[in-house]
Amino acid sequence: MSTTLQKFDVAAIREDFPILKQQVHGKKLVFLDSAASAQKPRAVIDAMTFVMESQYANVHRGLHYMSEKTSDAYEAVRDKVAGFINAASRDEIVFTRNATESINLVVYTYGRATLKPGDAVAVSQMEHHANLVPWQMLRDAHGTELRFVKITDAGEIDFDSLEQVFADGKVKLLAITQMSNVLGSYTPVERLAKFAHERGAKILIDGCQAIVHRQIDVQAIDADFYVFSGHKLYGPTGIGVLYAKRELLEAMPPFMGGGEMIANVSYEKSSWAKPPYRFEAGTPAIIETIGLGAAVDYVQGIGFDAIAAHERALTEHALATLSNIEGVSIIGQAQDRGGVISFTMHDAHAHDIATLLDRQGIAVRAGNHCAQPLMGRMGVTGTARASFGMYTTHEEIDALAAGLHRIKRIFE
Ligand code: ALA
Repeated sequence: MSTTLQKFDVAAIREDFPILKQQVHGKKLVFLDSAASAQKPRAVIDAMTFVMESQYANVHRGLHYMSEKTSDAYEAVRDKVAGFINAASRDEIVFTRNATESINLVVYTYGRATLKPGDAVAVSQMEHHANLVPWQMLRDAHGTELRFVKITDAGEIDFDSLEQVFADGKVKLLAITQMSNVLGSYTPVERLAKFAHERGAKILIDGCQAIVHRQIDVQAIDADFYVFSGHKLYGPTGIGVLYAKRELLEAMPPFMGGGEMIANVSYEKSSWAKPPYRFEAGTPAIIETIGLGAAVDYVQGIGFDAIAAHERALTEHALATLSNIEGVSIIGQAQDRGGVISFTMHDAHAHDIATLLDRQGIAVRAGNHCAQPLMGRMGVTGTARASFGMYTTHEEIDALAAGLHRIKRIFE
């Protein structure tokens, strides 16, 4: 065991997550659905409760004590998130509802204002619907083309296909995941950013899954846009982040109109606030943003070196254990992969697998995982998916394997 792993005390971490003590159907909860949404540590719950109990008012508007305190706490999270992903400036951090909204914001502002009919947007074959459907909507409304970068059977980006997609110079934006929510594959985002930039295109990275497992440095990646959600990062739902380079945000028109996003308003016309406020119309998710700040503190307190080492060991153990079960096929075999493991088992329907596991207290996701076209590409109709967080244990993976053995006996 490495020194880092020795320092990483999963039992102590589990103590921080109250829900993990729950029983489900009379069995110990084995929560293997963190890629859908992660559980919340006490620090996040307490931070949100503190705001509501002790320090709450609307932000940015009031000149009174409570509003100033809440505004300070809310804005401090912008600094924290900027530091967390190494943005060059706090003004490059826009708070949204979730990663889906962040992508839609880019589609409706940058997409409509900067991309021209006939320009192409490229996405990969393994995108979540959030990074596919909005680009289809832009294509249909605005006349942009939508192209697909193929993936290999292992679930990695096919660079020959990438070359072909970019060959005629029409692609102006590559929108791509950093980690597949189905296959667990990481994509080489630094290489992809360099590839896109050398061809005069921008890159948007869907970091929803990756940011939970690895340290992100948007400047080192040279990301133009980077999006993620708070709830997968051990924070609350209802808060997401759009990072974009300052010059891009400054050139982008507003997304939604209303309070907070304006400089001046008359009955005839309005002018816009500077970024990031231009993109934050209305009362924001104050409590959730403060919860996100607590989540960032919590994750940073543990450190990605330790989290990644623990999760790497878990993933290796899971891949070895599950592939030893006769009839289990793991969908996605990328070299660089993390703790999201999709599988099928004989002819058992993924929903049946999930339901029967649930009866044993084991939570997995089943279906198309909001990546319906990818199912066809991988030759399956759906999968069961086990996904890990920093609190997942080797014993839980063994419980999953034992659960699958029991289910196999039912189907035999
Ligand atoms: N995108 C989330 C998942 O993969 C909801 O489950």
